[in-house]
Amino acid sequence: MIGIIGAMASEVDGLKELMENKTVDVISGVEFCCGSIGGKNIVVAQAGVGKVNAAVTAQTMILKYNTKAIINIGVAGGINPTLNIGDIVIADRTVEHDMDTTAVGDAPGFITGIDRVYMDCDKEISELMYQVSKDMGIHTIYGVVASGDIFVSEDSVRNKIANIFNGAAAEMEGGAIGHVCTMNNVPFAVLRAMSDCANNDSVVDFPAFAQKAAKTSIEIITEFLKRYKG
Ligand code: ADE
Repeated sequence: MIGIIGAMASEVDGLKELMENKTVDVISGVEFCCGSIGGKNIVVAQAGVGKVNAAVTAQTMILKYNTKAIINIGVAGGINPTLNIGDIVIADRTVEHDMDTTAVGDAPGFITGIDRVYMDCDKEISELMYQVSKDMGIHTIYGVVASGDIFVSEDSVRNKIANIFNGAAAEMEGGAIGHVCTMNNVPFAVLRAMSDCANNDSVVDFPAFAQKAAKTSIEIITEFLKRYKG
C-alpha cells in the first residue's frame, strides 16, 4: 500500500474520485480513503494544513496501513528563480525551515534525535514522478522542499529559505512527512506544483492559481501510479 497525503481538499479530492473499491476510515478526525488506481493499492488522506497535521497523518498511515512508501502531493510557493506558477518541484530532500535551535549551537533546521537537517527522498519514486512531469511538457526541477508553519509571502522569510536552506519551494507539510518517514524508515517523496512564488504577490496568486496547480499535481501522481512498478 502506498500512502498519498495532501493538505487541502483541492489537493486530494480529484484523486479520490479516480479511486476504485473505496473504503474510508476516520482516525483523529482525518479521513483515510483506501482503494486503487492503476491496479496499485493506495490510501489517500487530506491531512489539513501544517506540519503537525501532516505528521499525525503520516504516522497513522505507517502504523495502521503499513504503507511501504508515502508521497506528499499538492501546491507550493516557488523560490528557485526558474520557477513560474504551474511549474513542478520534485523534492530531492526536505527541510523544516522553522526548526531553530541555533541559540544552543545547532545548525539551522537541525532535528535533534535523528540528528540531521535534511531528509532524503526516495530516488526511484522521485525519478519516475520527474519523468512523468517532464513527459507532460511541464518545467520540472529537483530541489529542496522547505516546510514550516507559515505561509511565505515576505521577502525576509523567502530569502532565509533560499540562502540558508537552498530551498526551491516553500510549503507547510513535506518536511514533517519526511521527518516522520525517516524516523520510521519508510521511503517518501514530495511532488509540488507552484501556486505562487512565495513573495508579496502570493496572497493574490495563491487563491487564483492553487486549484489549477493542485489539479496538475493530481494528474502527475495519477500517471505515476499507472507506470509505477514497485
Ligand atoms: N503553499 C503554497 N504556496 C505557499 C507559500 N507561499 N507558503 C507556504 N505554503 C504554500
